[in-house]
Amino acid sequence: MSVIQIKDKRFKTFIPEEKILQEVARVAGEINRDLKDCNPLFLSVLNGSFMFTADLMKHLEIPCEISFVKLASYEGTSSSGKVKELVGLNESIEGRTVVIVEDIVDTGLTMQRLLETLRARNPKDIRIATLLVKPDKLKVDLDIHYVAMNIPNDFIVGYGLDYDGLGRNYRDIYTVIE
Ligand code: IMP
Repeated sequence: MSVIQIKDKRFKTFIPEEKILQEVARVAGEINRDLKDCNPLFLSVLNGSFMFTADLMKHLEIPCEISFVKLASYEGTSSSGKVKELVGLNESIEGRTVVIVEDIVDTGLTMQRLLETLRARNPKDIRIATLLVKPDKLKVDLDIHYVAMNIPNDFIVGYGLDYDGLGRNYRDIYTVIE
């Protein structure tokens, strides 16, 4: 186990890269099976999902497209629930199968707002693929189709996830030491 310091907080190894990659490959397998005839459009929600997106895409063997969007709402270690405008979606999603690729679903408010925004553009189907879910923090009823891992409520960093902009570069996931 290794311990890292980011600003005022210490974090310890929680999910090693090997385990993350194994679960990402499993999710990719499910998507390959379910969406092979849909030419899905993956919408990767930046910044947090960049590593997950890259590793997921490497395992996809179906015709598909990808676009990167941004919808930032998070500061410090608790979710504000405030959602900014969706930026970066320049193509039409009308009639398309869309797969949202997200780093983590915490309260689910960000995802709920994103779904509302996307539904207004008349896609055929919207699916959610997320690296992580904190099931005990979910405040809204969401149909999450693809989940790599469920985790407890603690704040985590690494593998794309940050604490105040830092820590995204770590290949393992770390959890805060209280
Ligand atoms: P939600 O709206 O509460 O579901 O928050 C979702 C967003 O909060 C995610 O996309 C992350 O950017 C951020 N977030 C939630 N939990 C964590 C965490 O433990 N570490 C880092 N970011 C987090």
